[in-house]
Amino acid sequence: MTVSKNAKAHESAHLHVAGEATFVDDIAPAQGTLHAALYLSEHAHARIVSIDVADVLASPGVHAVITADDIKGENHCGPILHDDPILADDLVQYVGQPVFAVIADSQLLARKAVKSARVEIEPLDAVFDVQQADEQHSWVLPPMHLQQGDTGSVLASTEQTLSGAFSVGGQEHFYLEGQIAHVAPKEDGCLHLWCSTQHPTEMQHLVAQCLQRDASQILVEMRRMGGGFGGKESQSALICCVAAIAADKLQRPVRLRLDRDDDMQLTGKRHGFDYQYQVAFNAAGKLQALQLKMLINSGYSADLSGPVATRAICHVDNAYQIEAVDVRAHCCKTNTQSNTAFRGFGGPQGAFATEYILDNIARETAQDALDVRKLNFYPQQGGQTPYGQPVEDNVIHQLVEQLEQSSDYRARREQIDQFNAGSSIIKKGLALTPVKFGISFNVVHYNQAGALVHVYTDGSVLVNHGGTEMGQGLHTKVAQVVSQELGIDLKRVRATATDTSKVANTSATAASTGSDLNGKAAQDAARQIKTRLIDFLSSKFAVSPASIRFEQNRVRADGFEWSFEEVIHLAYQARVQLWSDGFYKTPDLHWDKDKLRGSPFYYFAYGAVVSEVAVDTLTGEFKLLAADLLHDAGNSINPAIDKGQVEGAFIQGMGWLTSEQLCWDDSGRLSTHAPSTYKIPAVSDCPARFKVELFENQNVKDTILRSKAVGEPPLLLGFSVFFAIRDAIASVAGHTINPPLNAPATPESILKALEACRG
Ligand code: MTE
Ligand code: HPA
Ligand code: MOS
Repeated sequence: MTVSKNAKAHESAHLHVAGEATFVDDIAPAQGTLHAALYLSEHAHARIVSIDVADVLASPGVHAVITADDIKGENHCGPILHDDPILADDLVQYVGQPVFAVIADSQLLARKAVKSARVEIEPLDAVFDVQQADEQHSWVLPPMHLQQGDTGSVLASTEQTLSGAFSVGGQEHFYLEGQIAHVAPKEDGCLHLWCSTQHPTEMQHLVAQCLQRDASQILVEMRRMGGGFGGKESQSALICCVAAIAADKLQRPVRLRLDRDDDMQLTGKRHGFDYQYQVAFNAAGKLQALQLKMLINSGYSADLSGPVATRAICHVDNAYQIEAVDVRAHCCKTNTQSNTAFRGFGGPQGAFATEYILDNIARETAQDALDVRKLNFYPQQGGQTPYGQPVEDNVIHQLVEQLEQSSDYRARREQIDQFNAGSSIIKKGLALTPVKFGISFNVVHYNQAGALVHVYTDGSVLVNHGGTEMGQGLHTKVAQVVSQELGIDLKRVRATATDTSKVANTSATAASTGSDLNGKAAQDAARQIKTRLIDFLSSKFAVSPASIRFEQNRVRADGFEWSFEEVIHLAYQARVQLWSDGFYKTPDLHWDKDKLRGSPFYYFAYGAVVSEVAVDTLTGEFKLLAADLLHDAGNSINPAIDKGQVEGAFIQGMGWLTSEQLCWDDSGRLSTHAPSTYKIPAVSDCPARFKVELFENQNVKDTILRSKAVGEPPLLLGFSVFFAIRDAIASVAGHTINPPLNAPATPESILKALEACRG
């Protein structure tokens, strides 16, 4: 492997490994700081008749109880609709919904006091099942429908059809740092919030709204998250609002940090999907028409379900040209946590459907699934998605060709067939799956960003931008962009905490667009400073502007050479402005959200992976033996960070589809609310052969340094583990039966599918 000179360490790596990186809970509490704990509903659906907190208030160290009555402004913290109460008023809609908060001297005292509350309720009928919700037209949003071509007539006239149903579960984010906010009241009704959020601006606005303050009175500061994965795009809001209401009421700093079990009970997860489909295909395995209905478990409120469902619909095609498509998405309302953004944002659930169907078609037509997938790929040129966006940058053919060779796919297929013929209990499976993922927020106006770059008189540089750091390396990449633009060493450039008082009206760091948007905005700011320096040097030294070069900490012009510091010193003396703002908005986007048509994505990111598994047909356990990943990050800004993103996303995708199972009991209580019962992959689940390579490519679009967004797309690479397991299961029936395997492919799920295949 060649190591690129741009493979820089994460800007906080030295702090992470030494335990010195500060997270919100590391902020030393100022004198008088109080701690909050939440009372969570014990009922899935009920009217609140009365809340008796006399014993709570009498408990040691308790200062106050905060209820919905303490909210001066609107009692909601939803990102789009107003259907997420901060604290339940007279109705609770899921087990885990916050009803009131206790504010005490310590977190422990607050948590103890919560337990002595007496809440009287009147139970109401609860709905947990999406099928039932759908039958009752219990939706959080109106149904969505995308239609392209005439699926009905294709289905009526085709060689072969297939129909069926399957499902995929949700996923807990399992960020290492749970939800937390620390709020300090300041003079004149102002508040300063430190919170773990992907969306500081939205926290600012929602806190202002619930306290009836101006946004200008609320300052949100966010240095880093211990992971977000989408779970802190909208759902950090409740935590921020409760802490802010308490801090404002008591005029004391208040910290609210959720215990892991409470975090899992309270917050929404990835949406689980139930699918029903009917398809037409020809003898060669070409998918001709797809009718698909997706029942999406939204939970009790809309949250981000609308754009999630939209992204799911816009990823049903994955890497495939399908002539006739009819896709419906129903956001079903159930009495569970309100499901939310999670890495891929519905894209994985949309693409999974077609991958599952093509996997079936391969067995129906007795072919290797890779051949069926390749046959269905978008053409090299001239492809168009069902929602009307041209596919102009298709590299899936070259990428898969390269991976097929480098992974030795065909030879391994033969070896596995031979192995299985001689092994009655352990069966091996293999799958190559591709990914095409659309990059941009599917709400056009979110695709904007701002930055501030300060050059100090010693030549050191501070960059602030609207994006947030959650471990993905955004600050490192943005600092690299600025260092390249100014021709100085990366160590001279420092990224600061995200701060709503520095860059205003920012979008969430989401949709993988962090470096695309903020990198461009920071580059714009650095360019403006550089332009001023060039103007200054060319007039002072009578050199041609075109001859001035910023590289390797030096500035050169015909006949002159200075250090960067010297130039900054001279410019300061000459009263040149040495700081600048910058702005960026993604061009060429348009989207009609009612018709579900347009070009919502600036470009697509691609990838593919070959996974090989061994399944124990007695226990239903599996092991990932080998994974070869090839991912398109364009002209990678930082290959070390990008490979880390690809590895992490792949393993997280594998966890979603295999070991991570969310279970609710009959009363609607999440029973898998701790690491003891909810199993995310461990280091030992990584395969012995784990090859992660970046595909040599340049973005055809003018993105920052021609790179491609990398945060979410590789999560879909996890599909290959699921389909390799399905391949191993199918081997017990000579690959003639489609194993009825639902995701997650837990041992139980695998055993059931094996049983069905054995007949
Ligand atoms: N990587 C780490 N280490 N931690 C995270 O929380 N979130 C993912 C991805 N990679 C995440 C991560 C998600 S959901 C998104 S949208 C992107 O990072 C956001 O960051 P970016 O836009 O800067 O890639
Ligand atoms: N991804 C993440 N968050 C979003 C999106 C998206 O595509 N659209 C609106 N919010
Ligand atoms: Mo990522 S799900 O867009 O935060």
